Amino acid sequence: MDHHWLPFTPNRSFQKDPRVFVAADGVHFTTHDGKQVLDGISSLWCVAAGHNRKPINEAIKKQLDTLDYATAFNASNDQAFKAAEMIANMAPGDLNKVLFCNSGSEAADTSLKVALAYHRARGEGHRNVFIGRERGYHGVGFGGMSVGGIPANRKVYGSALLPRVDHMRFIHDPVNHAYINGVEEVWQEDLLLELENRILPLHDPSNIAAVIVEPIAGSAGWYLPPKGYLKRLREICDKHGILLIFDEVITGFGRLGCNFGADFYGVVPDMLNFAKCVTNGVFPLGGVICSDRIYDSMMQANAGAPEHAIEFFHGYTYSGHPVACAAAIATLNLFKEENLFERAGQMGKVLGDAMHSGLKGLPNVVGIRALGLAGAVELSSIPGAPGKRAFDIFMHCFHHGVLVRPAAENIVICPPYIVENANIERIVEVVADAIRKHA
Ligand SMILES: Cc1ncc(COP(=O)(O)O)c(C=O)c1O
Repeated sequence: MDHHWLPFTPNRSFQKDPRVFVAADGVHFTTHDGKQVLDGISSLWCVAAGHNRKPINEAIKKQLDTLDYATAFNASNDQAFKAAEMIANMAPGDLNKVLFCNSGSEAADTSLKVALAYHRARGEGHRNVFIGRERGYHGVGFGGMSVGGIPANRKVYGSALLPRVDHMRFIHDPVNHAYINGVEEVWQEDLLLELENRILPLHDPSNIAAVIVEPIAGSAGWYLPPKGYLKRLREICDKHGILLIFDEVITGFGRLGCNFGADFYGVVPDMLNFAKCVTNGVFPLGGVICSDRIYDSMMQANAGAPEHAIEFFHGYTYSGHPVACAAAIATLNLFKEENLFERAGQMGKVLGDAMHSGLKGLPNVVGIRALGLAGAVELSSIPGAPGKRAFDIFMHCFHHGVLVRPAAENIVICPPYIVENANIERIVEVVADAIRKHA
């Protein structure tokens, strides 16, 4: 308790009431004081196949005994090539080139750097404006934070944030679309007019490098785009030569019942960022899947350079770490063998229905949004104490054996894909009790 400074956690309150896991299996944790806690959030959107999966554990152990680590620069390892091939084969369109890193934050910064390098390689180095979205989350690096739009994550960093960044409007209509259950809502209003009529003219489209969005705003609290939004965003980007980056750190690898959010929405971005579920969360790994067009441009720009010249000055010591890649290969095989993405789609309907029937109408509930195997219940804020109600509900749930996620005024539920009906019933029951208790 004296030395571990916990991330994104109220440390003073944690010290008084520690929550420490010492073991996990399936959808349950064991705590330091011997209690069972149901993992209602896949341990922060990671543990899609459930905890303690033997095929993944065995693959990691075998890899450690075979090739523990090998330098990532000027050489590589067999697992990295295999994992990259599997990931590229799962990705839509011409997303075929995988740049590995270790986390979603690194993926965000990597994708922004690729965008700048790509435009420069094509002689358009002036394209250096990035467009994110209000309440977007792209990790905690300076690039990701700058295009991100969660105020608390940005407010103390001032001018250290990237200067040429703008943000599109958020995708939420609490009046007409507060309750969403498994469908894409049709909005009367066209949210992207703001991009076309304000943001693009202000910066001039010729200066814009990339637009980066999460297909669904995950960290903000599972906010869903209106029907047709992402397709129209793709068209606008194409019209102006702007790259479109999908941050699929949460929506990637099955959460929506298919490989990626890009597949769910039928839109192929120019880059797709991933992390989390790719290794079932058991080993850090992230990456950016780039289009052939981006890769080829970067190579062609170096056509006249000597062969020993590096085309992209970027990478991490642990890019394509063999143990991480072995974990990814085993995870992706397991997803396939057990049809887990399909299962996520099916259980998503169970979750959406359970949340709407069990939570709608409870005190302070102002919205419920469910799609894929995830949902959020939104609560009215306590005046003068933003986030307190959701935090109190989270604590209540934890003490009653269910781990949920407080996100601003939301409680988010996103269990592992192996979740059973009874688990979902239990989660919703405990959340309902907590909401009543903290009314
Ligand atoms: C969409 C998105 N991008 C980036 C990140 C950052 O990932 P990491 O915490 O692995 O750096 C997250 C984390 O939740 C995320 O949801």
